[in-house]
Amino acid sequence: MTAKALTTAAGDPTRPQYHFSAPANWINDPNGLVYYDGEYHLFYQYHPGGYAVGELYADPLRWGPMHWGHAVSTDLVHWQHLPVALTPDSAPGAAPVRGMAFSGSAVVDWNDSAGLRRGSEPALVAIYTLADSEGGEAQRQAIAWSEDRGRSWTKYAGNPVLPNPGIPDFRDPKVFWHAPSGRWVMVLAAGPCMQIHTSPDLRRWTHASDFTVDQGIDGAPWECPDLFELPVENAPGERRWVMLVSMVGHGILGGGWNTQYFVGDFDGERFVPEAPQGPLLWLDHGRDHYAGVTWNEHPGNDHERVLIGWMSNWGYEQAVPATTFRNAMTLPRVLRLRRCADGIRLFSRPLPALAGLRAPVPLCHAADVRVTPGCTLLDGLREDCVEIVAEFALDADTGATGFGLRLRQGPGTELVVGYDVATAEVFVDRSRAGYAFPGDDGRRHPAPLAAEDGRIRLHVFLDRASVEVFANDGAVTLTDSFFTAPDALGMALYADGGEVRLLSLDIHALGSIHG
Ligand code: FRU
Repeated sequence: MTAKALTTAAGDPTRPQYHFSAPANWINDPNGLVYYDGEYHLFYQYHPGGYAVGELYADPLRWGPMHWGHAVSTDLVHWQHLPVALTPDSAPGAAPVRGMAFSGSAVVDWNDSAGLRRGSEPALVAIYTLADSEGGEAQRQAIAWSEDRGRSWTKYAGNPVLPNPGIPDFRDPKVFWHAPSGRWVMVLAAGPCMQIHTSPDLRRWTHASDFTVDQGIDGAPWECPDLFELPVENAPGERRWVMLVSMVGHGILGGGWNTQYFVGDFDGERFVPEAPQGPLLWLDHGRDHYAGVTWNEHPGNDHERVLIGWMSNWGYEQAVPATTFRNAMTLPRVLRLRRCADGIRLFSRPLPALAGLRAPVPLCHAADVRVTPGCTLLDGLREDCVEIVAEFALDADTGATGFGLRLRQGPGTELVVGYDVATAEVFVDRSRAGYAFPGDDGRRHPAPLAAEDGRIRLHVFLDRASVEVFANDGAVTLTDSFFTAPDALGMALYADGGEVRLLSLDIHALGSIHG
């Protein structure tokens, strides 16, 4: 095979209409999330093509020499695509590929601590991992900076700023300013552990501590850390730190790739999780939410963090159907902490600005309806880009063993978002929604969810090839992609084995973010 020509995703029927996707080609993790001068920057792992070494890396729809793709937004909903920001150190066509730009973060160096600034603008500094395609992949950390709002980047001549200490997996630096200690902090994935380093100037780093927990997973690498502080929204005066850890191949249900979180304290050098952690805490219970990290400098930083993740899974990411682009980002979500009966938990809510995509007139509004098997309330609705807010009563009157929504219905196909009363689980079931994902054995993707005040609330975002469920105010979320027939557009409410009371239902058509 020779190198494929560049493609364009415009007009591709599987292209998300309101999730971020690249104009073409392969993407994975979000990188360098930073807000500066009215713009949110989203960089991302990107394979633009042009780096083929014979057959190797010939297909830009697959993972290859990693660049940082780039887009900016003023509202985190609409994106302007910009040229590639960071390229590998070696030239196109060279083998092996040296200094690929793996995942990392970006900060605004307000006080010019690194001494990189030449003009009056503070430098945006990207801190990222250099990785080679051969030779033990000695992963090491580098910096690059921009003084023109991220439009052009200069690689620091003194790279690497953190050389490899002999650890094969040593990557994905998340850097932030820690005001109480007056230093930069870097959280770095280092095998089955997160290392914490500190620095006065982004150039000289000191190893401060390690964070790991025994998950019984044979040393599988951790990836894509994040560490941030939030107030506990229902406990005035209380604050906690949250550590995010994306787990290689040891996700929910024993396999797959998912992101765990830990709640604890951080003193500028050491993260200590609250004990006991109890059951593992997952950022999202679906199969397609990985490598999620939060924005630095977000204007609402004090009480919330905005996170975006990669909407795919390393179990099948290169196999999923693709002709012009492959993989997308999740919706940005707002993270907050709440004290619950079993401890302090992360709540994920959809970004409020997404409401701006709603069509002026709702497709459906209903209140106090008894949903029975064979419910016809949504007959005639045929949609693939909608937001659905449905509130069900779970009380002594509920005779149904399960209830919810059947989406993307066609002959013999459907995507189910439902609640199982016996197991007290909300779930997404894509096993009859067209494409069979390799290694995903057709089981439902469930998440435990207790009723709150006798209610189960499902807030669902359906796009052309993905569904995101925020249940009970974001106590639990599920993100899954799917590929089904473009004309399978039917939808229905269902109740199995009896009735359930639907307290309210609102369905909004959502517009496209592609001009
Ligand atoms: C996670 C990851 C990162 C790495 C990047 C390479 O998805 O494996 O650890 O930096 O992807 O593209």
